[in-house]
Amino acid sequence: MVEIVRALTLSELKQRKSVKWRQFPQDVLPLPVAEMDFASAPAIKAALLDMVERSDTGYLGPFPELFEAFAKFSTQRWGWQPDINQMRIATDVGVGIVELMRVLIKPGEKVMLNSPVYENIWRWITEVSATTVDTPLIEEDLAYRLDLAAIEKEYKNGVKVHILCHPHNPVGVIFDRQQLASLAELAKRYQVVILSDEIHAPLSYDAKSFTPFLEVSDVAKEVGIIVTSASKSFNLAGLKCAVIITESTNMWQKINTMPPAVTWRASLFGAVASTAAYSDSSDWLDGLLKTLDENRKLVDNLIQSKLPGVKYRIPDFGYLAWLDMSNLGLGDDPAAWILEKGKVALNGGVLYGPKHKSFIRLNFGTSPELITEGISRITKSL
Ligand SMILES: Cc1ncc(COP(=O)(O)O)c(C=O)c1O
Repeated sequence: MVEIVRALTLSELKQRKSVKWRQFPQDVLPLPVAEMDFASAPAIKAALLDMVERSDTGYLGPFPELFEAFAKFSTQRWGWQPDINQMRIATDVGVGIVELMRVLIKPGEKVMLNSPVYENIWRWITEVSATTVDTPLIEEDLAYRLDLAAIEKEYKNGVKVHILCHPHNPVGVIFDRQQLASLAELAKRYQVVILSDEIHAPLSYDAKSFTPFLEVSDVAKEVGIIVTSASKSFNLAGLKCAVIITESTNMWQKINTMPPAVTWRASLFGAVASTAAYSDSSDWLDGLLKTLDENRKLVDNLIQSKLPGVKYRIPDFGYLAWLDMSNLGLGDDPAAWILEKGKVALNGGVLYGPKHKSFIRLNFGTSPELITEGISRITKSL
């Protein structure tokens, strides 16, 4: 029996020490960074409490149980059984992708992303002194897809690595198997490595709609590396643990040229919590998805009734609403306007790509009350 997962109250949330609840003054309602406002899954709480009780707070060492737990979770959710002998732990997804780029390319070489996209992907490419190649997604009524023809052109021009955001934050879209299979073929033809950031995958509302990149085809296994983590779907970002996965000897050898510190800098608490998430928290995740499903529809209802000028496509995964505010005439930075006049913190579209200044991203991983309050403050600010 799947039980709805309920969010904490505002006064409980205000006691949190995480960035979402520390970054803004007390009178601001924070709906930006991708943290959720729910109590942790019971199995995760128990596993962490047990560690603290036993003062088991040392470094992270060999941790095969995490790989086994992920493989089981992935088999059950997506019908993909990854090879537990081709997995490595990294500090987090960001560190994993940055360190992978350090062993895959030289400074100045080209790395592709597809805007509008999670802001740190832009930063990771700059961090390794690579050259960013933006091949924007194609959009039709806020449904986005990969522009395979433009991607091929840029691959031909020397792209070495392509960071795929799959599912795609902030646009809320899950790429289908067919697009991914075609992408894999192109990557093989032009010798591009696809780094598939699958951190949001467990939050797909219809698990069947998501295909892990390495499950797409034999070619995808040759050209792809998955980087994932339980941190978005189980709210474990502060615990620092991600998993890197390959399914070809060549890619496995490549990821093993990364320094051991990539694993040493991950956290034992993160590995324990992620293992509990993948092995014992599926019911909790299903309950969470029920709650988020209601929230994504609530956002739709509120926008239709209170902000009819705003365009919104109900996302296929997660708790991030990508809102086109261009009809409202709020200038180049609607998030700044709303923060100042409405006291709601949101992420501005400019973070995700130069052409998306008129968008905002709203995090609805919270209670219906706070979503309603947030949208009512936005309405009043106009
Ligand atoms: C697509 C994507 N990748 C990575 C991250 C960050 O992951 P980590 O904290 O493990 O680096 C986020 C956070 O929102 C994200 O949306």
